[in-house]
Amino acid sequence: MHTHHANTSDVAVVGGGIIGLVTAWRSAQRGLRTAVVDPQPGGGAAQVAAGMLAAVTELHYGEQVLLGLNLESARRYPAFAAELEEASGQDLGYRACGTLSVALDLDDRAHLRELHALQLRSGLESEWLTGRECRRLEPMLAPGVRGGLRVDGDHQVDPRRLAKALLIACERAGVTFHRGWAERLTTEGGRATGVVLADGTALTSGQVVLAAGSRSGQLAGLPDAVLPPVRPVKGQVLRLTVPRVYAPFLSRTVRAVVRGSHVYLVPRENGELVVGATSEELGWDTTVTAGGVYELLRDAHDLVPGITELPLTETCAGLRPASPDNAPLLGPTALPGLLLATGHYRNGVLLTPMTGDVMAGLLTTGELPAEARAFSPLRFSPVRQEQPA
Ligand code: GLY
Repeated sequence: MHTHHANTSDVAVVGGGIIGLVTAWRSAQRGLRTAVVDPQPGGGAAQVAAGMLAAVTELHYGEQVLLGLNLESARRYPAFAAELEEASGQDLGYRACGTLSVALDLDDRAHLRELHALQLRSGLESEWLTGRECRRLEPMLAPGVRGGLRVDGDHQVDPRRLAKALLIACERAGVTFHRGWAERLTTEGGRATGVVLADGTALTSGQVVLAAGSRSGQLAGLPDAVLPPVRPVKGQVLRLTVPRVYAPFLSRTVRAVVRGSHVYLVPRENGELVVGATSEELGWDTTVTAGGVYELLRDAHDLVPGITELPLTETCAGLRPASPDNAPLLGPTALPGLLLATGHYRNGVLLTPMTGDVMAGLLTTGELPAEARAFSPLRFSPVRQEQPA
């Protein structure tokens, strides 16, 4: 017998950021009755993120497995964006603009040479340019630029538009929204059965997906063995506006490592120029600080001196949900009925298409799709770490 009750669903997604929303949208598309719990769906770190799809330019040593997932998600982006734009009637600001990573001094250049070698060893497309060639591509760059990497495959999307489009697509696909905090996970007979909201509303669901970003460990009732090992890593970001008379100020994303810190400038077609980002281990703090803004402006100014002419329209800070190995946690936990989609750290916007596909596959078949097996949360479970005697 089927019970059709507003508080009963096949899937309850805790967290309505882009990861929770894409999971809910894909799950509803596959015919699952899906609910999202979030006081402000469409919010979260996507409201701060710059939206670089930087699989190649943000490659790090030791992250080869993550690279495969990132590349596959980047490959799926054009079709994903087209489908979501059709489903929501919203423009995502997806722009196949490419990225230029530059070096400002000899240390930066040595660092960039290393990155280039790693990119080539990994089979990626990346071209070394002289400083003069960089400036020919982007005339606003500082005259002292010592060289750079041209990566035509690293693009961008506008994360705020992405969040809004996902919200509309979810609503159109019949996802139910519970606008409140999920306070507690409920379990019965060793299985997750739903969540209770702060106002006491109890939701029952066949499967619960925890997609609450850096807050994913805060849901009461999670057994210790399934507590997701995510922590917040603060990022401060600025938004400037390029007046029409200056356009095109930059034609692609421009980034650099300046005195050891990453700085990037992401130019949107609508004139917004996003400058990011600090990376701070400060717990739950989301204060925009004078020091953070100063460092971003100083580094961005070293890179593109003309930014001082632009109106500074917004400053904000968000929390990246970081995991111990910088890769996401996607899949089942040791508690039957409880799945994770969190820990996306620096790659949440990039990994949105992949996460939706992987989680919907898992929710409908019970099997984690092969391309996501390396990202199962079970890689952190204590049982797995025990060594045989
Ligand atoms: N992927 C950009 C950042 O995390 O700052």
